[in-house]
Amino acid sequence: MKSISEIKQKKIHSEKITVVTAYDYSTAKICDISGIDMILVGDSAGMVMLGYDSTMPVTMDDMIVFCKGVLNGSKNALVVADMPFGSYQSKFSDTLCNAIKFMKMGCNAIKIEGGSEISHLVGHLSCKGIPVMGHIGLKPQTSPLWNGYNIHGKTCDESVCLLNDAIALEKAGAFSIVLEMVTSEIAEKISQTLSIPTIGIGSGNKCDGQVLVLHDLLGLYDKIKPKFVKRYIDSISLFSTAIGTYIKEVKSGEFPSSSNTFSMIPEEFEKFNKYFKSLHLRE
Ligand code: KIV
Repeated sequence: MKSISEIKQKKIHSEKITVVTAYDYSTAKICDISGIDMILVGDSAGMVMLGYDSTMPVTMDDMIVFCKGVLNGSKNALVVADMPFGSYQSKFSDTLCNAIKFMKMGCNAIKIEGGSEISHLVGHLSCKGIPVMGHIGLKPQTSPLWNGYNIHGKTCDESVCLLNDAIALEKAGAFSIVLEMVTSEIAEKISQTLSIPTIGIGSGNKCDGQVLVLHDLLGLYDKIKPKFVKRYIDSISLFSTAIGTYIKEVKSGEFPSSSNTFSMIPEEFEKFNKYFKSLHLRE
């Protein structure tokens, strides 16, 4: 399994860090085998796995189930658990307790959305030995409530805030920061300024790494398609072709064929037939 220091070393060696989200055993295993550096069990699960319109309703209990699957499927990737809305907004003892739940399961780090306003949490958790990933720019849990799914860092004032947030998170002890929908100029400046890696999503190619939601990458989610998403395959049409063929074959009797069927020992079947006849069930 990759370590936090291996991830940090990649920045030093100018090696891009690759991250995808995953929420279950099967897809985590595919991501892991493909050689991904980090798997983020994102609360985007709320949208792509549970069909909510936002990440807001996702609970700790939901996230624990998703993390269980991912941990069982991944051997090499660093697994980061996303703290859902409500799991870090009240008392610090609750935040710590929730973060510890993820770490005890085997997650390697947690992610919290926010900048300077949550840097005290990042500091306290890091002091307890819990690696924390920050998340600034578009914060999907709360941004829609304030200003929607907007681009961040278009103006000088906004950019100053983003830079200050990034510096505050690094100072507090974050090991990495997600930059979501940040203008490429400011994402580059932040990446050059920090010594910890930045992981971009919709923030240009000058970040130290990139993350995509797996369902976006695979073309499995078509409710929305932000500009920054690249679909590498069209899974919806691949899956529906396969399922359509299955339906056709079941209806025609082509499936299951003898290769998908179990048979009795012939002599035993003969014996059974004799017994069956003796019952006179169909007279
Ligand atoms: O929940 C998530 O998938 C995320 C990524 C968009 C970074 O936070």
